[in-house]
Amino acid sequence: AALKKYQFNIQVMNVSRLCHAKPIVTVNGMFPGPTIYVREGDRVLVNVTNSAQYNMSIHWHGLKQYRNGWADGPAYITQCPIKTGRSYVYDFKVTGQRGTLWWHAHIFWLRATVYGAIVIMPKQGTPLPFPQPEREETILLGEWWNNDVEELVNQGNKLGLPPNMSDAHTINGKPGPLFPCSDKHTFAMEVEQGKTYLLRIINAALNDELFFAIAGHNLTVVEVDAVYTKPFTTQSILIAPGQTTNVIVQASQVPSRYFMAARPFMDAPLSIDNKTATAILQYKGIPNTVLPILPQLPAPNDTTFALSYNAKLRSLNSPQFPANVPLKVDRHLFYTIGLGINPCPTCLNGTQLTASLNNITFVMAQIGLLQAHYFNIKGVFRTDFPDRPPTPFNYTGAPLTANLGTTLGTRLSKIAFNSTVELVLQDTNLLSVESHPFHLHGYNFFIVGTGVGNFNPSKDPAKFNLVDPPERNTVGVPTGGWTAIRFRADNPGVWFMHCHLELHTSWGLKTAFVVENGKGADQSVLPPPKDLPLC
Ligand code: C2O
Repeated sequence: AALKKYQFNIQVMNVSRLCHAKPIVTVNGMFPGPTIYVREGDRVLVNVTNSAQYNMSIHWHGLKQYRNGWADGPAYITQCPIKTGRSYVYDFKVTGQRGTLWWHAHIFWLRATVYGAIVIMPKQGTPLPFPQPEREETILLGEWWNNDVEELVNQGNKLGLPPNMSDAHTINGKPGPLFPCSDKHTFAMEVEQGKTYLLRIINAALNDELFFAIAGHNLTVVEVDAVYTKPFTTQSILIAPGQTTNVIVQASQVPSRYFMAARPFMDAPLSIDNKTATAILQYKGIPNTVLPILPQLPAPNDTTFALSYNAKLRSLNSPQFPANVPLKVDRHLFYTIGLGINPCPTCLNGTQLTASLNNITFVMAQIGLLQAHYFNIKGVFRTDFPDRPPTPFNYTGAPLTANLGTTLGTRLSKIAFNSTVELVLQDTNLLSVESHPFHLHGYNFFIVGTGVGNFNPSKDPAKFNLVDPPERNTVGVPTGGWTAIRFRADNPGVWFMHCHLELHTSWGLKTAFVVENGKGADQSVLPPPKDLPLC
């Protein structure tokens, strides 16, 4: 195992896209930011120095950070922000994980431009469970706003309305030639006929699940969220914000130029398709004058594709990489996902859009919750988050009634060390057409079941896949449906769980688990680092 050191300078830089120039927050003046390359077993030190006028924190999305929430990054959950002029060293080990993950700012909406890939190579001498591709490329899908994102969000908050949605999607920071002034802002990947490529695809978009495809080329899915899958071949993938998907592509077609394209699934409002990002798969020797062909993507409302695509995802579950699905459940949790309207005396029209789990809209604390937990500081949060909704109702059949008014609170759920947890996330069909990509920090979980309508506790568990369900850190809970996940709470600390649509997170669609320490000497939260930022 090696020690890998990175320096991240948070700095503002002028960037132009779509005929608009604006200053954006970057790491080291790069957009997207630098890729972190590590090998399983390595220790990583990332010294983040903040030279921008914004508070900052960085999250290593999908890294488990065993006993080490101090390096997890979400602001006011596991640390206070790194203030302007200050530094913080994220110090962590990468153990038991290999594949593609990513990092992003975890404060306000700054991840709009502060994000990058994490590539974890398997241990020396551990072969891949699929033929070794000859080359690889990271494909970061994102969003671009012509205006300042933080300003838009602040304006929206004052009005009690959502901020304007982005003006374009991007591939490796570039929207591609379907947008004005974007011929130069087009990502191109050169391939040689007959060679095999691994694409590490990351959805870093703020508010959209995306379809992705390459014209004329099949994609073979081999890994999601840094867990190997049973390979399957598809024309398009579906990827939610927070998720990663590794695919193998054979450059087996007539040498030419082919578009790769990404566009939203179930954008809200279901918009005309004006945000398709494109990039070019360019065969060696083909001149740039050849017009590329566009791939066929599923329609923006193609839920049939979405359901059948997700149903194909299976853990590899090989002797070397077994799926250790908890078979017995110690703790059953059932959380409803609600979007609604709350009174807002300070908002211009007196109300604001809000989001909740079990009718509770999460309120951020003024200091890090992990700090409050570790030092036993009272009054920062409560641990009485209800295991199920206060009043059961017809979750998907009774729109705009049962959970419109929510209560505010910094309420967490306390989980016993090493207990097995089953969490059913139930959408309530209110106001929204989107899936909710739920992300749990500190853990992977198994997606043992999913369905449309109301979860039926006496029938649905019989159909759970407890053999080779997909193992992920982010799952799309289908609109008007439910998803059941299981995990073993073997990582003590305070772990954030939230919808990875930034809009919904900022409305309060989030909570956290307090996983207690175990009795063993190596089963408790590590002491905080000396340079942990204070509020
Ligand atoms: Cu990728 Cu809490 O985030």
